[in-house]
Amino acid sequence: MQNPELNRHVVASAHANIALVKYWGKRDKKLNLPCAGSLSLTLSPLTTRTELAFRAVGLDDLVEIDGTEADARARQRVLALVERVAPAPRPPVHIRSVNDFPTAAGLASSASAFAALSVGCDRLFELNSDVAHLSVLARLGSGSAARSLFGGFAEMKPGSASDGSDAHAVALFPKDHWPLSVVIAVVDAGPKPVGSTDGMEHTRLTSPYFAAWVDTVAADLEAAKSALRDRDFKALGQVAERSCLQMHASAMAADPGVLYFRGVTLDLIAQVRRWRAAGWPVFFTVDAGPNVKVFCPAESTATVETALQALPGVQRTIRCVPGSGAVAQWAEGSLPGNNPTFV
Ligand code: PMV
Repeated sequence: MQNPELNRHVVASAHANIALVKYWGKRDKKLNLPCAGSLSLTLSPLTTRTELAFRAVGLDDLVEIDGTEADARARQRVLALVERVAPAPRPPVHIRSVNDFPTAAGLASSASAFAALSVGCDRLFELNSDVAHLSVLARLGSGSAARSLFGGFAEMKPGSASDGSDAHAVALFPKDHWPLSVVIAVVDAGPKPVGSTDGMEHTRLTSPYFAAWVDTVAADLEAAKSALRDRDFKALGQVAERSCLQMHASAMAADPGVLYFRGVTLDLIAQVRRWRAAGWPVFFTVDAGPNVKVFCPAESTATVETALQALPGVQRTIRCVPGSGAVAQWAEGSLPGNNPTFV
């Protein structure tokens, strides 16, 4: 095999997303096919930036995450996606990925990571795939990543094909459709004790509430889409909070129960409800971790953020707005260590 071009690299980036109608449960674990649809908002500035380059033939693939070489499991997840884009024989690749927010803390770092990796690999191997295909590819890395391909509001279609070719996200409304903010109250930035894949699979297999949870999703998707269409904040909050609590209820009812909430998570939920009773336009959602995400109209962001920062147990807040979809482009120059002639 001839050495590939080594003096340029791809720079890809994608944002995290937060689900308003949650995804929790796979109908096919290997292909990461969801049991039901889901709906999310892509979040700026939470970003994964991924650089990709070819390495000189004879070198090993190199995968780096947040400045250090990836462990065996993460490396395998990344390279599985590369192999799907470019089956062997292929030149070795160097992939280095940096998150600007805590990895694996229920802040959906896998969503932005696999969305960035999908568009990045597609560009590196010059495939120019359509966005539905890229969303399928991202889904193979992480179910929620399929949604981060798109800016603004996106809906994940569960699909029905056994090969997963129709299980991808679609764009619903662009990022400027509705100026909402999401303030993340970080109560613990460490990794979660039970990853979402293990948590949802355990729920599917052991929770008597799992089927009931899946049954809620279709109606919630319709309710969320109509609230988005009408920019009806109250209706959106109602469906988002109920989808969140129903997802967690199904997980808590597993055997043994999967519990992502901490005491402080419940305190924050209660506070958001008190604020709402007092007339503030706010609603909450919580993913597979203890951190609480609070939605509000853009004009209330400063008030909500200051109030959250004053609450006991809140370590920091991260202010987010609707973000754009995943992108990748070529940049000049090599990545270090890829050409043994110049190291
Ligand atoms: O994409 P995964 O496997 O990390 O699962 C995401 C699960 C939730 O974040 C809890 C819900 C969702 O729809 O994003």
